[in-house]
Amino acid sequence: MRCSNLECGHVFLTLDGTDIPVVLPGAVESFLALDAPVDFCDADAVDGWIASLEPGSIGWELALRTGMYGVSHYGEGQSLSRRLYERFLRDLPIQLNLVADVGCGVGGFSHVMASRSACDIVGLDASGLALRMAMAAWSGPELSVPELQLGTQLRARRLAVPTTPRLGRISWLCADIHNPPLMAEAFDLVVAINLIDSSPSPAIALGQAAAMVRPGGYLLLAQPDAWNTHATPASQWLASSDDTWDGLLAEYGLETVDRDDGFDWELARTPRYRFRYVSHARLARRVTTTS
Ligand SMILES: C[S@@+](CC[C@H](N)C(=O)[O-])C[C@H]1O[C@@H](n2cnc3c(N)ncnc32)[C@H](O)[C@@H]1O
Repeated sequence: MRCSNLECGHVFLTLDGTDIPVVLPGAVESFLALDAPVDFCDADAVDGWIASLEPGSIGWELALRTGMYGVSHYGEGQSLSRRLYERFLRDLPIQLNLVADVGCGVGGFSHVMASRSACDIVGLDASGLALRMAMAAWSGPELSVPELQLGTQLRARRLAVPTTPRLGRISWLCADIHNPPLMAEAFDLVVAINLIDSSPSPAIALGQAAAMVRPGGYLLLAQPDAWNTHATPASQWLASSDDTWDGLLAEYGLETVDRDDGFDWELARTPRYRFRYVSHARLARRVTTTS
């Protein structure tokens, strides 16, 4: 498929035969190039796949990274998603029918949402591998994730996915947040956890996430605001203080109604080598329609 703007002519990528609309060349191609049709419910299949990856290669790193997220969401204690849900969303004063989890990764927040509310959830991510893991975790009861062992070897680690009620329905969508193939002003709640500061163009990513919120609906944002040039050119870095974030959200027709700081989150590359993030979280409500 080609872009409908004839001057653009961009040829879209595909995942399992489905076209992926991309607006920022480079934003999702690398994820799709590294995709593999692996079944994360099957430990032998995961071991076979990771054995085929060159240690230290980009594909091997992405496998390890996806596994780190799997352990963080399904293997260890009280996940960030659950804490954010309890703090901001449990008592939201609106009915949640349609929810988007943008940059859903391995699906931790979508799972929490679907276990708490009988709503429809769209889990959107650019990474086919992350979505395959999200789907496997949702089908449960066991998930096998790549884990770095003895410092050098990737092995499948089996995790028992916590049993939770299945109240909501989740649709997994491989797409680019800079051009989501979803209706504007359609969602009661849009959640972006640790996504905006991993975008090469955070203003576009934030604008698209904000535009999906219906009037009276909510946007929940959480990220460490840890801008880094690997993900985002310095010229694109966004707000850094609460006031500037509030001003930025107001430009998108959103009013900050709650915020909290200090949402800790750990990713373990190995049991002895961990990345620790601390996210700011902000809940904003759409007060005007998108112009
Ligand atoms: C730091 S992770 C956070 C994942 C998840 N929200 C969580 O809390 O575990 C960022 C996620 O954004 C996804 N991502 C990065 N660029 C994207 C893009 N352009 N469109 C959609 N997803 C993207 C990555 O694949 C990754 O899963």
